[in-house]
Order: sequence, then structure tokens, then C-alpha cells
Amino acid sequence: MGAGEPVLLVDRKQRVYLVWLEPGGVWDLRGGLVHFDDLLGRPDASVVHTSRGERLLALRPTLADYILAMPRGAQVIYPKDLGLILLLADVYPGLRVAEAGTGSGALTMTLARAVGPAGRVFSYEVRHEFLRTAERNIRRFLGEAPQVTLRLHDVTTGIPDAPVDRLLLDLPEPWRVVAAAREALPPGGIFLAYVPSTVQLQQTVEALRAGGFVRVEAQETLVRPWHVDGAAVRPVHRMVAHTGFLVVGRRPGAVVDAPAPGAGSTGPTGTATG
Ligand SMILES: C[S@@+](CC[C@H](N)C(=O)[O-])C[C@H]1O[C@@H](n2cnc3c(N)ncnc32)[C@H](O)[C@@H]1O
Repeated sequence: MGAGEPVLLVDRKQRVYLVWLEPGGVWDLRGGLVHFDDLLGRPDASVVHTSRGERLLALRPTLADYILAMPRGAQVIYPKDLGLILLLADVYPGLRVAEAGTGSGALTMTLARAVGPAGRVFSYEVRHEFLRTAERNIRRFLGEAPQVTLRLHDVTTGIPDAPVDRLLLDLPEPWRVVAAAREALPPGGIFLAYVPSTVQLQQTVEALRAGGFVRVEAQETLVRPWHVDGAAVRPVHRMVAHTGFLVVGRRPGAVVDAPAPGAGSTGPTGTATG
């Protein structure tokens, strides 16, 4: 583990703490000190003890760990939804993707990893301070991430980096962006909105249908963790029961009318060949 890297410290009750390793740095856990020099240069998953003898496991955080522990300006999209978003929006290496609002940068980082160095992620946010928090969160986990561009921009006024292959929205009124999405996406391009309430869900679906979008679908995902300890194998008593709904739709293309019967030459299957 190297200087400047984020490290997840896990105590015996599985509580996690996110710290950044700095040479000479010291971190205080309930009065017990962890000297970062003890961790620098050590491999992932090393064990360290505080000055009061408390045992801590030191792990490189996964993206999901980092998102849940990183500083937040705005509420983040949870990992359970981020995973599904990547598949529903079919995000893969090399794509050109736009999203708003940036918030704390959780979706931005997830998209940046998925599109990879050959792709582009344009992320729009109306609040300066959130953009700064997100910029810092992204840099501290992904480094320079040249595929990411953050802009102070109100996405309801348009998509400045159009054309884009995908548009993903996590903001209060995604239906106000449907017209801009039609302009920015190619035929078949995917629009996805993450909304916490059913009223927003309904309004977004109706706007997409009114805008001619096809394959408009809505869904939510629930993840129920399990407690596994000897014979006590059962769902945990508490879970995150609700986060948001995912609404997707695809930008329509041109209408190709079948030729009128008898018009033009036809092949053996009846398909127009002319
Ligand atoms: C819930 S947060 C987004 C969290 C983000 N998806 C994440 O995972 O970290 C919603 C953000 O949308 C921003 N926002 C609201 N309306 C916007 C608009 N019209 N254009 C751009 N950003 C907007 C808000 O300032 C806020 O930061």
C-alpha cells in the first residue's frame, strides 16, 4: 500500500473506516493510534494493531466500499443500483456517456471505469461545491481519469457534449431533459433515470412515451444481505428497503414503411430489394 492511497480499516465488529495513507500520518481509533508508516509498503489485506492493541484489517477498498465511505456532498447512488444501471444502460468500454447531476461522483466513477480509457464521461452539475467534492472523490480513487469531464451546467438547458451514446440522470426532474435527450442520443441510444419516488417515476415514463422513446421500462432492485453464523443462517434483520427506481427508454429511429403491395421489385421472400 502506497502513500496517498485510500485504505479501508476493518475492526473486529466489521465496522469500516476509510483513511488515506500519508508518510508520518497517525490516525486515532477510540484512543488507540495507527501509525501509517506501519502500513506503507505492506501488501493488501495486512493486519495492523493500534497502540491500544486493537486489531485492524487493512484492505484496498473496492469501488463499492469507497462509494459508501467517501465524503458526500449529495446522496450517492448505492452499489446495488450502480451495478444494475451499467447493464440496463448497456455501458461498455469506448462509449461516450453523459450524466447529471454529478453529486458526490459515485455514478461518475462507476461509468468512468466501465467506459475505460477509450471512452468519455461528461458529468454535469449545477452546484459548485458538489462539483468540487466529486472532483476530489474521483481523483483520490481513480487518479487523473482523463476520460472524465466535469462541467458546471444545468442539463435541462441541453447536452453540450452531444452526440452521446447514453444519457443517465439522477436529479429531481428528469422529464425536463427528455427533449434534450432526443437531440443528443442517436437512434437506439439509451436514456436512464434514477428517481426515488413513484410520482417522479410516472412523470418520467409519460415524458419518454410522449417523446416517442421505445422499450420504456421501470424497475427497482432490493438486495437482502444474509447473516451466516453457525446454524444461524437467516436474512439480516435490517436492510436498505428503498433507494430508487430505474427508468430506461431508447431513442426512436426513423420509421421504415413497408412498400405497398405490388410496388417495386420483390425478392423470393417478398422482401423489398429495390
Ligand atoms: C442525488 S445527487 C446525484 C448523486 C450522484 N448520482 C452520485 O451517485 O453521487 C443529485 C444532483 O443533481 C444536481 N442537479 C439537480 N438539478 C440539476 C440540473 N438541472 N443539472 C445538473 N445537475 C443538477 C444536484 O445539485 C445534485 O448534486
